[in-house]
Amino acid sequence: MFLHRLRLTHFRNYRQLDLAFETPWTLLQGSNAQGKTNLLEAIFMLATSKAIHATQEREIVGWQAQEEPIPYSRVSGDVQIDGRHLELEIILTPREDGLNYTKQIKINGAPKRAMDMVGLLRAVLFLPEDIKLVDGGPTERRRYLDIALCQIDRSYCQALSSFQRILLQRNNLLKRLREQEVSPAAPAVDAQLAFWDEKLAQQGARVMARRHNFLLELEAIASERHAMLSSDRERLALHYLPSFNPGLLSEQEFTLWRQGLLTEAPRRRLDEEQVQAAYLQKLAMRRARELTAGATLYGPHRDDLRILVNDRDLRIYGSRGQQRSAALSLKLAEVRVMAQVGGSAPLLLLDDVMSELDAERRAMLLAAVEDAPQVIVTTTDWEDFTPEFRRRARCFRVCSGIVEAVNSE
Ligand SMILES: Nc1ncnc2c1ncn2[C@@H]1O[C@H](COP(=O)(O)OP(=O)(O)OP(=O)(O)O)[C@@H](O)[C@H]1O
Ligand SMILES: [Mg+2]
Repeated sequence: MFLHRLRLTHFRNYRQLDLAFETPWTLLQGSNAQGKTNLLEAIFMLATSKAIHATQEREIVGWQAQEEPIPYSRVSGDVQIDGRHLELEIILTPREDGLNYTKQIKINGAPKRAMDMVGLLRAVLFLPEDIKLVDGGPTERRRYLDIALCQIDRSYCQALSSFQRILLQRNNLLKRLREQEVSPAAPAVDAQLAFWDEKLAQQGARVMARRHNFLLELEAIASERHAMLSSDRERLALHYLPSFNPGLLSEQEFTLWRQGLLTEAPRRRLDEEQVQAAYLQKLAMRRARELTAGATLYGPHRDDLRILVNDRDLRIYGSRGQQRSAALSLKLAEVRVMAQVGGSAPLLLLDDVMSELDAERRAMLLAAVEDAPQVIVTTTDWEDFTPEFRRRARCFRVCSGIVEAVNSE
């Protein structure tokens, strides 16, 4: 897997960029606010179809695009995947309201769905704020799981997107029923909800089983990495915390598990049918409660993941250093799982992370870099990298959205 060329038009502060990657290692240096993160965001967008730092698509359209007759933004990459050459392309064009943008995806010039592109170019992005994975809210952790799994497994991506659509419709129905103050026992309510429950449980179970099983694989590798980082003093564990009991534990055990009081649960795989049955049962049992809330209270949209060291929740008890190590171990494990599952290792995109790390963690990250087919790294300071690294890498300077090759030695 290799990204040979990246072209940007009106992508954030890049008016126009055409950059060729000729060596496995690329090092981009620049002062603050010059476009280093933006460049990695563009590459990561080709892998995931989403702009990691934007809540709305229009945020990534370059301000200078307003000078065009029709403002637009374009990211395209020439990539080589398993011997095939592909051109991946994302184009944003304004909608009639003039505020929002339409995202068009093309592969070799032909229009495709976002889902068809995700997972072709695989990448793992390391950011200084990765620690949020450990000390942030559940949304961060769900996002992390989704970004990783969507690249690994197309059927996951399909199930997740169907689930989200169904959830929206089911929530609208619940809200309407709440406004009408209908009785949960009314036959019409029963029929309407039963229809959506079935669909929700089917797609939701697929998402939940996949997350659970992925976490088992991830835990095995991440805990190995974390043991190395802590000279075997710390045992890292990952606990999947769904919003209802998917069926591996008794109800009593599951309650203890949710509260963090059961640390040694069996590490068994979950199957979809099992989760689906448990999900349907939960929805049937809690129908009155959901009607009162006017929202779907159970499912993968309420999932969380607990990260523990020596049986203690790192979000609550971890030191900053421990949290940082755990986030790094998780990301490195993701790289490994991606390589194992997909057959080819992902690109590594490292955004100014070296300066945050101590010598040991740096060494661990650099070992992963050695194994990756392509690594693109940004830094504000050349000195964060050894002369040897700088010799092996192709070096560029980023300045106000312009990228120039330099000799860094
Ligand atoms: N849509 C946009 N159009 C034009 N410029 C933008 C747009 N979005 C962000 N920018 C600008 O891009 C500049 C570069 O941002 P970026 O985050 O890539 O910097 P950086 O080189 O990573 O800096 P740092 O070292 O501080 O992380 C910022 O000054 C920001 O204001
Ligand atoms: Mg940056």
